[in-house]
Amino acid sequence: MGIYYNEKSQSFNICAKDTSYILAVAPCGYLAHVYFGKRLPDEDLTYFLRLNENPFTPLTNDRDRASYLDTLPMEYPTFGTGDYRDCALKITDENGCSTCNLEYVSHKIYGGKPSLTGLPATFAEENEAQTLEIECVDKAVGLKVTLLYTAFEDLDVITRSVRFKNCGDKPVTLTKALSACVEFDDCGYDMITLNGSWARERQVERAPLHHGKQLIDSMRGESSHQNNPFVALVSHNADEDSGEAYGFGFVYSGNFIAQAEVTQHKKTRFIMGINHADFSWLLESGEEFIAPEVVMVYSCRGIGKMSRTFHDLYRQHLIRGQYKDKRRPVLINNWEATYFDFNTEKLISIADEASKLGIEMLVMDDGWFGHRDSDNSSLGDWFVYEKKINGGLKHLVDEVNKRGMKFGIWFEPEMVSPDSELFKAHPDWAIQVKGRPMTLCREQYVLDYSRKEVRDYIYSLMRNILDNANIECIKWDMNRQITEAGSAALPKERQKELWHRYVLGVYDLMERLTTDYPYILLENCSGGGARFDAGMLYYSPQIWCSDDTDAIERLKIQYGTSLCYPCSAMGAHVSDCPNHTVGRNTPFETRGNVALVGTFGYELDVTRIPQQDRDMIPKQIETFNKYNSLVRTGDHYRIGNMFKDNTWDAWMFTAKDKSEALLEFVQVLGRPNERSRRIKLKGLDENAYYYEENAPDVKISGTALMNAGINIANLWGDYQSRLYHFIKA
Ligand code: DGJ
Repeated sequence: MGIYYNEKSQSFNICAKDTSYILAVAPCGYLAHVYFGKRLPDEDLTYFLRLNENPFTPLTNDRDRASYLDTLPMEYPTFGTGDYRDCALKITDENGCSTCNLEYVSHKIYGGKPSLTGLPATFAEENEAQTLEIECVDKAVGLKVTLLYTAFEDLDVITRSVRFKNCGDKPVTLTKALSACVEFDDCGYDMITLNGSWARERQVERAPLHHGKQLIDSMRGESSHQNNPFVALVSHNADEDSGEAYGFGFVYSGNFIAQAEVTQHKKTRFIMGINHADFSWLLESGEEFIAPEVVMVYSCRGIGKMSRTFHDLYRQHLIRGQYKDKRRPVLINNWEATYFDFNTEKLISIADEASKLGIEMLVMDDGWFGHRDSDNSSLGDWFVYEKKINGGLKHLVDEVNKRGMKFGIWFEPEMVSPDSELFKAHPDWAIQVKGRPMTLCREQYVLDYSRKEVRDYIYSLMRNILDNANIECIKWDMNRQITEAGSAALPKERQKELWHRYVLGVYDLMERLTTDYPYILLENCSGGGARFDAGMLYYSPQIWCSDDTDAIERLKIQYGTSLCYPCSAMGAHVSDCPNHTVGRNTPFETRGNVALVGTFGYELDVTRIPQQDRDMIPKQIETFNKYNSLVRTGDHYRIGNMFKDNTWDAWMFTAKDKSEALLEFVQVLGRPNERSRRIKLKGLDENAYYYEENAPDVKISGTALMNAGINIANLWGDYQSRLYHFIKA
């Protein structure tokens, strides 16, 4: 590993395990992008910049600077001087003009990785990573721009972010401050994105790049159900196991943009960062701004390897807290069991039954506070609703604890209902534009988390709850997006900072919460999976994947999520049938096997489900416990792909030392004359022999299992599932 500076060519070779990322100082101090791909030795590759080709270089033709700038692969392009491709940085200076020009000043290389104040980011010890900081300046306004790159020693990962400081004596406003730009010398890629809607998150789409701009984004104030802040650019021939894949994950939970632009000469510029629509950030003299982190992963061994690298990075260098490397308690959540219709007795009856079956934690969902009997009231009034929680919260929690179970509780801390005491006392604490009606969504408004007094107040109410009962888990929900983005507390010239200040406010409160209550398991959620992003993983080791708990719908949702995020973080529950979202009936066993991929729990009224389903729960929990360490720490391999063939699915978890592997198979639809299916395994040791746990005498080589496969026989009916555990002989 290392980051090398080549004095002669003024180039930087940022090396991760098998990856190189090279940039160089070009004539006139421009920072140019040279190469991103398979690891290369430290040598001069700046000839790729084609600096001697006429007519596009100031070295040979200074009279046509604009043509040069419009073709030079730029490391961090700015607006206004002749590069007409989309830029990463745009400003407004004191005269109201947008032009900006960066020149290289200096650089430094050191061990470790700096944290990004107020922002989530991957972390590393001094001996685990190396960081390069390149300082550039716009001389005209005195804006210092520091590009940060970190290479992780054991992983094929390079991260990036940008720090801005106004070193001039006049204010400067950033109107676009993206986190990364990567130039590709061709356009022969497919763009893979994760798109969807409520209950249909992270559906995989793949399309070849074409001239012009193709992008995904969010302007909803959160990362969103609709587009996830992750993109992969992959070679046309790339599949799970071969071909080139470039993955870009954004460690951020608000408005974002990720865009590939195919330019006039069939090159590709990829940019990613905070969405610049309705964004600006005023920097008074001496002030700083930090653009969130982009994680870049290159794989020359297909999309699967790219995903596994993201999983390793996020598991080891992003997720924190006591549950980072631990099995999560098997929980039961009462949302689909009762919705708003519950009280102390009902919850205790669920705990009674659940504890007998081996379930370890009860999470009380929405409806326990204020006077909330439906979704139209009380958000912001985080006081126990005594009519429902009769006997008080401590009594309920103690009763649950007495049954040997932990207790978790639901909050939606960013929201306020119009009928709440909070809104009546502080109507200006909701996000709003003066003089305009406020748009209701799910009968609620969004609190102005850019304001510290708002966060402090909500946190004081949360603390009252957390300090008065033995609460060991919080489900943090967020059920609407932002409209009328305005703050009663920000001056006119800072109103467009609200979107980002809001996200920083959410991060601030989550940081306080996880610092003050390190033993609490924090699960994120946003109307299902609208905030399944790397920013949130920094605060919560797990995120509710989707409100769609149907086992078959989940195959696609969990597949899409796994492109970038580890299975250990996916909130997945067994729910009742017919499924509440799609009305489908699936076997209880299959629901369990599909939820096994994630954090695992139940989302049903255990006192009312059929006896034969209830009887299966102890065995399901045993299975979860048996395989959870493999699922949490192993390598994930996708085998089936429901986006291509929706009749079956399969995936694997293989131990890092290849000593064992779990194969899961789902027959989605029974097919005529297809009573068996051959499945080729992945990730095994080809020189070793394995046996399946239920047939210890049959030893098969890793080579055979991976190249010839196994035969899954006696397939009959829809929605059937199987588990196979292979162990090295
Ligand atoms: C949306 C979440 O995704 C559900 O699990 C549930 O907590 C509801 N909100 C409660 O309002």
